[in-house]
Amino acid sequence: MCTAALVRDEAAPRASTGVPVTADRDVWRRQSYDVVVEVLGGIEPARTLVAAALSAGIPVVTANKSLVAAHGVELQRLAASRGTALYFEAAVLAGVPCVNTLARRPLASGSGAWAGIVNGTSNFILTQMSRGQTLEDALVDAVARGYAEPTSGADVSGQDAAEKLTILLQLAGHLDVATSDLTYRGIDALEPWHFAMARRLGGVIKPVALADTGVGGGAWVGPAFVPASHAFARIDGVTNVLAVGRGDSIVWFSGPGAGPDVTAATVLDDVVEAAAGQGRGVMAPVAATLPVAARLRSPKPGTWFLALENVSSSDGELAEFLAGHHLPAVMLVSEGHRRGVIAASAPIGPLLATVDALESTGVRAAWWPVLEVARV
Ligand SMILES: NC(=O)c1ccc[n+]([C@@H]2O[C@H](COP(=O)([O-])OP(=O)(O)OC[C@H]3O[C@@H](n4cnc5c(N)ncnc54)[C@H](OP(=O)(O)O)[C@@H]3O)[C@@H](O)[C@H]2O)c1
Repeated sequence: MCTAALVRDEAAPRASTGVPVTADRDVWRRQSYDVVVEVLGGIEPARTLVAAALSAGIPVVTANKSLVAAHGVELQRLAASRGTALYFEAAVLAGVPCVNTLARRPLASGSGAWAGIVNGTSNFILTQMSRGQTLEDALVDAVARGYAEPTSGADVSGQDAAEKLTILLQLAGHLDVATSDLTYRGIDALEPWHFAMARRLGGVIKPVALADTGVGGGAWVGPAFVPASHAFARIDGVTNVLAVGRGDSIVWFSGPGAGPDVTAATVLDDVVEAAAGQGRGVMAPVAATLPVAARLRSPKPGTWFLALENVSSSDGELAEFLAGHHLPAVMLVSEGHRRGVIAASAPIGPLLATVDALESTGVRAAWWPVLEVARV
């Protein structure tokens, strides 16, 4: 057996570990390994290399959520067919042991409701923005600290969080769900005044991932208004949180969600388990549930936070306009030509119709869901 690392650029400066590096995939593949660790990121060549290792009966540990969200189930099945295992604890909530736990607790993981802050980088950025930093400066800071992904676009656009939610849904047997089924919105549309309006309305803005597979359910990945009394309002920086379940039966996970050290520690824990031959890795669910993807294509009906700009009407006139469009304001604050509104519960249809009607009058409107206050 030997140790070798495949890299993109052999000449790139890197810490000296004594491990031989090569950029030649054929050279790397000719060696024999006890365990393969995949931290390349992206789909290819990761998928081909992981499939080749599993086909040869070698266990694979990966932190690559894009790969697991798109091809995890097929790779898990391949692993099982070759008597080996795929481990991916670090792919979701990097430093928090939730994947292996949920994979071994199908009743808890299949409860039908998930709510989380699952991207440490975007939570770090929004925490910094709520303290007055610009998005650009906060992103530079996140990259410097090693929180941001190789392509930070996936953190900012919400794709990374949507991939993690896809993995969680698939762990629960929702094998029909692909990342493209989930509505995800980036944090790049947020401006400092949105945070100030949210504060005046008694909340904060957080990057969340929500899914409810029940009747009347839905999914949302992106910014949301979180009331100050909600547990998520206190989850700052790169800390992640995941609440699985409903009512009095919620299972909570929380801890560090990004960063080289915590991710490496989780990867190494998986490596030890794989090398010892004690672990089963993460097994594909035994059976798929009834299809739920169609339900998850739009957000669940609920209350909404609207941030309106270029408003020339009075607060009373705006409240009347919203009520006339079946989206009455529950709270309304104003500053010059800007308004912050918490609107009453409504499905997405009336919300979008009202936003269109507002924009036809010259108002610039942004909207996000409001999180229901959960019991802790
Ligand atoms: N950073 C985190 O906090 C974090 C947390 C959880 C999960 N992850 C996941 O961990 C994985 C790695 O992330 P990272 O931040 O460590 O990325 P990174 O710093 O860019 O490291 C990627 C490594 O893979 C090598 N590589 C990339 N593409 C390759 C290719 N086509 N052929 C050969 N080698 C290739 C790179 O080689 P070079 O060194 O030559 O460029 C580099 O050593 C991703 O899947 C990410 O989603 C990261």
